Amino acid sequence: MSTGKVDALLGIVFGDEGKGKVVDVFTPQYDVVARFAGGPNAGHTIIFEGKKFVLRSIPSGIFDEGKLNIIGNGCVIAPDLFMAEAQELESAGYDLKSRLHISRRAHLILPTHRVLDRAYEAAKGKNKVGTTGKGIGPTYSDKASRTGLRVGDIQQNFQEKYETLKARHEQILRDLHYTDYDITDEEALWMRGIQYMSQFPITDTEIEINQALEEGKNVLAEGAQGTMLDIDHGTYPFVSSSNTCTGGVCTGLGVAPNRIGEVFGIFKAYSTRVGSGPFPVELFDEIGDKIREIGHEYGAVTGRNRRCGWIDLVALRYAIMINGVTQLIMMKSDVLDTFETIRACVAYEKNGQRTTTMPYDTEGWQAVYEDIPGWQTDLTQMTSQDQFPEAFQNYIKYLESALERPITIVSVGPDRAQTIEMN
Ligand code: GDP
Ligand code: IMO
Ligand code: MG
Repeated sequence: MSTGKVDALLGIVFGDEGKGKVVDVFTPQYDVVARFAGGPNAGHTIIFEGKKFVLRSIPSGIFDEGKLNIIGNGCVIAPDLFMAEAQELESAGYDLKSRLHISRRAHLILPTHRVLDRAYEAAKGKNKVGTTGKGIGPTYSDKASRTGLRVGDIQQNFQEKYETLKARHEQILRDLHYTDYDITDEEALWMRGIQYMSQFPITDTEIEINQALEEGKNVLAEGAQGTMLDIDHGTYPFVSSSNTCTGGVCTGLGVAPNRIGEVFGIFKAYSTRVGSGPFPVELFDEIGDKIREIGHEYGAVTGRNRRCGWIDLVALRYAIMINGVTQLIMMKSDVLDTFETIRACVAYEKNGQRTTTMPYDTEGWQAVYEDIPGWQTDLTQMTSQDQFPEAFQNYIKYLESALERPITIVSVGPDRAQTIEMN
């Protein structure tokens, strides 16, 4: 943790690394927690004291009373889903309105953005991205096309702006011959969501964050998705539509690069991916099924099976470079507790050619593995590093040496308490 700085906690693979859990654990050390990219395509799970929450748009620092949480300008927000998410927290006893600010500049996801998401996916057929269906791509497209609606528009001529954008979407849908949809109920709920959202402070969050930094306060930027889903650096076109990397922190919160402090790169002890796209480490055998079953690898947002495989050092090294990662956080170590041998992908191979750096097109590459002995010990009850079996210590050392960064946190279970700080 650094003073007057923005530390970033970023998923560095394909998302679902456990960002929500660690942001919640880190929050006591920070003054402000802010989301800078993505929207309700994210599903961040937090478990403590027998309670479980899955957050989509609300930052994972929300459970700590007295901390300011921000939905930054780089985010996209669906008012109806936001209302459902916030009301669930309110009924669990958390007073959100005093601690959650929303950027005026964040973009609104309209019901017709979600229809467009489905229509574009249907048009792509077998090349579909496998999106979460939350309207993310169409909303960021409108942002880039300068036709989007922003949260700040709620306060100015809103109905007219809404109707104009909706009519534009309806025209695109007619052109695509995608007319079999009915948003009547969804739209009514969405409008209620707009009213509900208006009760929250809608502010110039970039100014608030910079003022906090000037006062020497600490900000934690909570990543969504992961680097391999980044619009520029991921496995394009099988990516999300925002910058999920450190660069996205600067643009998505309005902070200068020299304000960035620590960059925590978070990954699992193995790999998963949800949705389509290249995944050289994917296991189609019983080992993949075993990882999925033990790790409960089913999507928090869509319930889809997550594709599973061994850890991918090629992708991790690339993500560490792109993000300027200073510390690593390894999650879900316990999922590998029963494996006799653990494998790590050290290179990709295609047509006799081998690469250890991320290729432009990851399609069709085969993973090249090194084997590491498994620890075959239950890690879930361990509370400090000195209880770790030697084989697990060796796996950590192996990764630190291959990735040239220290692993400073190890997670051995989903609960807040199952988090071990390394010396
Ligand atoms: P996020 O999107 O990066 O916040 O991650 P998700 O919440 O989508 O997925 C992580 C899943 O793994 C959730 O179900 C967590 O409860 C769970 N989880 C987090 N850390 C651990 C861990 O160390 N061990 C196990 N077994 N589960 C974990
Ligand atoms: P968190 O924050 C895992 C994936 C989708 C799809 C692609 C594009 O929980 O880690 P989108 O709806 O964004 O247009 O989908 O990106 N995807 C995620 N995968 N975790 C996420 O978020 C994801 N958000 C999007 O499955 O392949
Ligand atoms: Mg998730």
